[in-house]
Amino acid sequence: MAKGKTQTGTGKKIAFFDTTLRDGEQAPGFSMSAEEKLMMAATLCDLGVDVIEAGFAAASPGDADAVKRIAAEVSGPAICSLSRATENDIKAAGEALKPAKKSRIHIFLGTSPIHRTAKLDMSKSQVLAAIERSVSMAKSHCDEVEFSAEDAIRTEREFLVEALECAAQSGARVLNVPDTVGYTTPDEIYDLFSFLIANVRGAENAIFSTHCHDDLGLAVANSLAAVRAGALQVEGAINGIGERAGNCALEEVMMVFATRKDQFGVDIDIDTTKIYPASRMLSKMTGNPVPRNKAIVGRNAFAHEAGIHQHGVLNDRRTYEIMTPEDIGLPGNALILGKHSGKHALAARAKELGFEIDDDRLAAVFVSFKAMADQFGEIADAQLIELISGVTGSESAVWSLKRVEMRAAYGAQAEPFARVELEHPARGLVTDIATGEGPIHAAFNAVQHITGLSATVEELEINHVGAEGRTDCIADVLLRVEGQNFRGRSRTRDVIPAGVEAYVDAINRAAASLNRDAFGHEKKAVKPADAQNAA
Ligand code: KIV
Ligand code: ZN
Repeated sequence: MAKGKTQTGTGKKIAFFDTTLRDGEQAPGFSMSAEEKLMMAATLCDLGVDVIEAGFAAASPGDADAVKRIAAEVSGPAICSLSRATENDIKAAGEALKPAKKSRIHIFLGTSPIHRTAKLDMSKSQVLAAIERSVSMAKSHCDEVEFSAEDAIRTEREFLVEALECAAQSGARVLNVPDTVGYTTPDEIYDLFSFLIANVRGAENAIFSTHCHDDLGLAVANSLAAVRAGALQVEGAINGIGERAGNCALEEVMMVFATRKDQFGVDIDIDTTKIYPASRMLSKMTGNPVPRNKAIVGRNAFAHEAGIHQHGVLNDRRTYEIMTPEDIGLPGNALILGKHSGKHALAARAKELGFEIDDDRLAAVFVSFKAMADQFGEIADAQLIELISGVTGSESAVWSLKRVEMRAAYGAQAEPFARVELEHPARGLVTDIATGEGPIHAAFNAVQHITGLSATVEELEINHVGAEGRTDCIADVLLRVEGQNFRGRSRTRDVIPAGVEAYVDAINRAAASLNRDAFGHEKKAVKPADAQNAA
């Protein structure tokens, strides 16, 4: 079993139905190409989800193609296509799913009064007839059929029972009860699932599934309540993406089950260490950053800035962490140095950066650090190194950005370039001119030439902060250097220097951690004999 998989041995297995590529992708601003969907599906497969809803084959040729490619290339989870309760949709889904080792057609039909009248113009008996016809037909086009009573939460209970009975008796193996409009509450959905499980006849061979939207911010809580009442499948999407306010965030439910086994005691087949990579991949592909304070996968989810918290975490992480960053596949912890930080955290970071400071000098550094933190908020390592060097007199061994100029040319013949001037105590001022796909990219290339470190940009985020009178740009960059991640940050008045300075900041961290000199070469350890000769 892979690290992170959660088995409690109770025998009650909860299946995860991932609809990132269907419900998630259909939300405005989240579209993905077939190639990207394929990469995401492979990542979801690594994560260990049980079902991947790869798209809605009848919606467009592109969707059909994506479903088909995922069906052909991803094996492990069942591959599913959404389908309306019509012959054409079912055929399109069946065709796209042909290459799958395990295939599922997911038929949905509105059952609530508002859907029956305003959208479908169908009577109750017409709805039941359509369910019977479509589920029976879909059985011969795939391995298993799921039926969703769309807008189940606002459907009359007696009719919902009839609709689900009809689906189960026609051969549906999964009976999904969606809260299509994100209207329900934990108590209400618990009561509904308990009622349905007790009253739907002919569902012995089927499982009940929950699919909650987040319009009132209750999707995860509602899904958990449905599980408590007996649902055996949870539907949702990574990062909670989906129609309107989104779907249930699957990573949150996964970590609830993994962290609160005492409360739920269910088995899941999830490798939780793949959660963070899946979340990052999705965010990068769709160009939608994950909110900093998002549960589980936000940048602050494992970051500590307050002095009291940092002191506790440095002594024993469990003081303020109920899960570890490693549990979700996030390397390292994040003690953020800012105005709320205390001396313990400052001393620990200084030590990591190679400074041995006695208590008196630490006290002096701390005073300057607090003044700097008041001005800048979060303090980057490069700033800290400069500060410690300034206060203690030890030489700072980092690059600083002195000047950047660029040409932002655009067009077929255009060749953007940047001229960057960096300074290092061991090399003085060094200038490089480089080209790139764009001016920022060209500037990054120039920094790489000068520092001798090659890096790929994993993330780059630039935000305007401040209010009337004064606005600054904060740039955050995540670089991959020799298989490791390094963050950099900068705050300046303009976008361009902010981006380049953050890049230099991350390069400085990489050089310190990988023990590189000002040319990017590995620093040689000074042997005692050499030291004596030098003296
Ligand atoms: O929210 C919803 O009702 C859906 C169905 C298609 C299951 O996404
Ligand atoms: Zn939905």
